[in-house]
Amino acid sequence: MDVHVADHPLIAHKLTYLRDKRTDSPTFRRLAEELVTLLAYEATREVRVEPIEIETPVAATTGIKLANPKPIIVPILRAGLGMLDGMVKLLPSAEVGFLGMVRDEDTLEVTTYANRLPDDLTGRQVFIVDPMLATGNTLVMAVDYLAGKGARDITVVCLLAAPEGIAHLESELASTDIPVKVVVGTVDERLDEKGYIVPGLGDAGDRLYG
Ligand code: PRP
Repeated sequence: MDVHVADHPLIAHKLTYLRDKRTDSPTFRRLAEELVTLLAYEATREVRVEPIEIETPVAATTGIKLANPKPIIVPILRAGLGMLDGMVKLLPSAEVGFLGMVRDEDTLEVTTYANRLPDDLTGRQVFIVDPMLATGNTLVMAVDYLAGKGARDITVVCLLAAPEGIAHLESELASTDIPVKVVVGTVDERLDEKGYIVPGLGDAGDRLYG
């Protein structure tokens, strides 16, 4: 598994305000969208493209356009919805699929309550967006689900991760043939006993949507 931790002062600056408990929901939503736009720059570094001939006002030249089949963006509901618009702005022709997953606050086990995805993801580039990688249980299940539909090119975009969650995802993927790239704004100190990222930002879903 390839992990890319953003190292950029603008990302650190926006994450600081995102973490602050005084930040209200409208501001939190705006910051999440801005952050995903910055992270998407790295996450889409290997997006598939193909050449296209165009003419500028001066001369003919060769440019590039997104290749077919188009990538698919998969926000993990609910909190991943807060990152969808930012991602779609950069990849407006991408398809969007949805996975609804929730973790039990006591057991930290994850259940899937909704999905709306193409049946066949063979050959598709998939971008999962979810603000938090805490225990990693959600992403382990999400990657397994997408791989079950044939996806073999999966990039995860997260705002925050715990080291334990990254290690968990990595160890679960080690015995598979699923190459996953994780692009994350920053890696925090640890998980607490309730499975919250420390210092983290609290519950991203609640802070986005109440
Ligand atoms: C949060 C978050 C991730 C998940 C991370 O969602 O958005 O999906 O927890 O935790 P994990 O790595 O320990 O699995 P939550 O289950 O709170 O649902 P919500 O987005 O609907 O609030």
